[in-house]
Amino acid sequence: MTVLSAVQATYVVAGVLFILSLAGLSQQESARRGNVLGIIGMALALVATVALALQSSERPWQVTAALILLVLVVGAAVGTWRVRKVEMVQMPELIALLHSFVGLAAVLVGYGSYLTDTGSDTVHLVEVFLGVLIGAVTFTGSIVANLKLAAKIKSAPLTLPGRNWINLGLVVAAVALLAWFLAAPDQGIVPLVLMTLVALALGWHLVASIGGGDMPVVVSMLNSYSGWAAAAAGFMLGNDLLIITGALVGSSGAILSYIMCRAMNRSFVSVILGGFGTEPGTAASGDAEGEHRETFAADVAEQLAHAASVIIVPGYGMAVAKAQYPVADLTEKLRARGVDVRFGVHPVAGRLPGHMNVLLAEAKVPYDVVLGMDEINGDFATTDVVLVIGANDTVNPAAQEDPGSPIAGMPVLEVWQARDVVVFKRSMATGYAGVQNPLFFRENTAMVFGDAKEQVERIIQAL
Ligand code: TAP
Repeated sequence: MTVLSAVQATYVVAGVLFILSLAGLSQQESARRGNVLGIIGMALALVATVALALQSSERPWQVTAALILLVLVVGAAVGTWRVRKVEMVQMPELIALLHSFVGLAAVLVGYGSYLTDTGSDTVHLVEVFLGVLIGAVTFTGSIVANLKLAAKIKSAPLTLPGRNWINLGLVVAAVALLAWFLAAPDQGIVPLVLMTLVALALGWHLVASIGGGDMPVVVSMLNSYSGWAAAAAGFMLGNDLLIITGALVGSSGAILSYIMCRAMNRSFVSVILGGFGTEPGTAASGDAEGEHRETFAADVAEQLAHAASVIIVPGYGMAVAKAQYPVADLTEKLRARGVDVRFGVHPVAGRLPGHMNVLLAEAKVPYDVVLGMDEINGDFATTDVVLVIGANDTVNPAAQEDPGSPIAGMPVLEVWQARDVVVFKRSMATGYAGVQNPLFFRENTAMVFGDAKEQVERIIQAL
């Protein structure tokens, strides 16, 4: 077997492992296995690519090996240092930064490929052009997303007059530059550089036009763009594995963005076109009002002691309070007493995809009692007590009942169908969408005010 065919075979195995990894990541129980399969696939891909580089390099193999080792050591050291330092809530900004590297790599591969490959095959030229274009948009877009999430630049959307026309103008300019690039490939460096500047401006403006609160959807979209940029780089380098991997990242990122948009009731098309949604807190605060009923930890403990079935609905407030640990303790205590305790997790509860699942897994809540919205929505009507721990928008009945509400149409957890609902939050303040929640004024709802962690700990003591 030649080195080339061994490399090709390894690439096929790595590609299959990446697909199995994605399949594993779609379920909480198999997510760990999915991660391990992805790591093995990437390790195989790396070994095969290094073997190929050593074999096909025109330099002495020792020089190539030393160069590869150097970048591996530097990359691994920086990566390990950053990942060890990052807090869970800083994850989206780190991911945005990593996408910017993929974008930059695609730009550099594009230039390298154009400058070293002297042929003027049109297909190759289009690959170079598209790779650099998508890469440059991803690069600046991801940097702006990172800066907004890290609060290093203002998070409010930039609303330049005629912002959609600016985007359209930049796209038209890029198309015109493509025509120039193809017409005179020998002097193509001028349109290529001009297009790079246009694409850098486009990426920056697209993401700057979106409010910081909507950045998680944007990061997922940039994830998709970075995948397509990698696939374009794969075409330029003639590397099948990079094409497969890029396409997997590109399509899975797009699917995730679509799921998030649907769960937040946002228009998918307007996210792609950069300029959707209002800034959090600017939405109308709705006209829901009325009398709310307050209750206290000791009374909730009493209520739970007599319940046969309990559903816990966590939200962003659980993450803020770091209440997942006492919530896990409470779950264990209630289950030991024979109470049927389950969790209902909304797809966009918290601020990251899978935010609640990660927190609950961290606190060792068993996977089999953590259910998604569609799995649990039918069961609220037969449940004794629902504990809403720092969730608000994701349990707001106005989404179904008030067509004029800013969140009308957003799918929600129908907690109000349960016999009793207890909501844990610090005040009557609105959630992320800035709309009041009529759930708080329902007859079967009682409010426990205060930090969710402290209140849950009090319930555990009282039990
Ligand atoms: P939210 O609607 O954001 O409400 C969070 C609630 O937690 C607030 O009502 C807040 O009330 C309470 N809270 C905050 N700190 C607390 C603490 N220490 N103890 C107790 N309660 C506390 O939460 P949600 O239901 O999870 O909804 C998520 C929202 O974020 C949705 O609108 C979603 O569209 C949006 N979003 C989600 C994502 C993803 S991917 N998950 C991305 C972007 C946006 P008090 O201030 O009164 O305590």
